[in-house]
Amino acid sequence: MKDNNIITIDGPSASGKGSLAKVLAKKLKFISLDSGLLYRAYSYCFEKSPNHLDAKKYFSNLKINIIDHKMHVFENNIDITPILRHESVAKSASKLSSFKETRDNLISIQRNLVSKNGLVADGRDMGTVVFPNAKTKIFLIADEEVRAKRRYAELILNNSSITMKSVLRDIRDRDDADQKRYLSPLIPAKDALVIDSSDLTEEDVLDLTIKYYTDCTK
Ligand code: DC
Repeated sequence: MKDNNIITIDGPSASGKGSLAKVLAKKLKFISLDSGLLYRAYSYCFEKSPNHLDAKKYFSNLKINIIDHKMHVFENNIDITPILRHESVAKSASKLSSFKETRDNLISIQRNLVSKNGLVADGRDMGTVVFPNAKTKIFLIADEEVRAKRRYAELILNNSSITMKSVLRDIRDRDDADQKRYLSPLIPAKDALVIDSSDLTEEDVLDLTIKYYTDCTK
């Protein structure tokens, strides 16, 4: 049976999934699941304990909290989310995400976040693999140049040596790896609404999503 209480938002990096998930969760008072952050946290654990069994154990000591409708990860009461946002962590998360052990170790953590309060889940395989029964599925895309500009604007705040060229290259590499991996590749679910946000504002995307959610759950 389809679940009215789950909204999935999948798409490539810097397509605006995270911002959409945050405003949507706030508006609907839903819990938000940033699955990419879990993959990043897993890759952080794997770096400390480079085999899946120990990485899983290490991961179990981390705490996940929702602050202002965004997921944060804590290690020994320290918020390590800013570390997990580094591009280097994104790259290793993308590599590790192609392994079955990684995906198996994270799937129940993601599904356990479902509650009757509702869930907005963003990532790459939310609508296809993790929550195939979600009633409302969005696949958010944008031109790679638009996404690179957005990502560059974020990264330049903390790293003045970053270049547009390197950001665009990283986005292309990650898209390629995420789309071509054998397990849970980045593809739209058959029943997803595809929204191209290249020429839309964040409000436009939110309005389209709310309208679609209302239609799906009528
Ligand atoms: O959304 P993000 O950039 O934080 O995700 C980091 C990496 O994690 C992404 O390149 C691939 C992986 N990932 C995944 O395989 N499946 C998900 N549902 C979410 C992220």
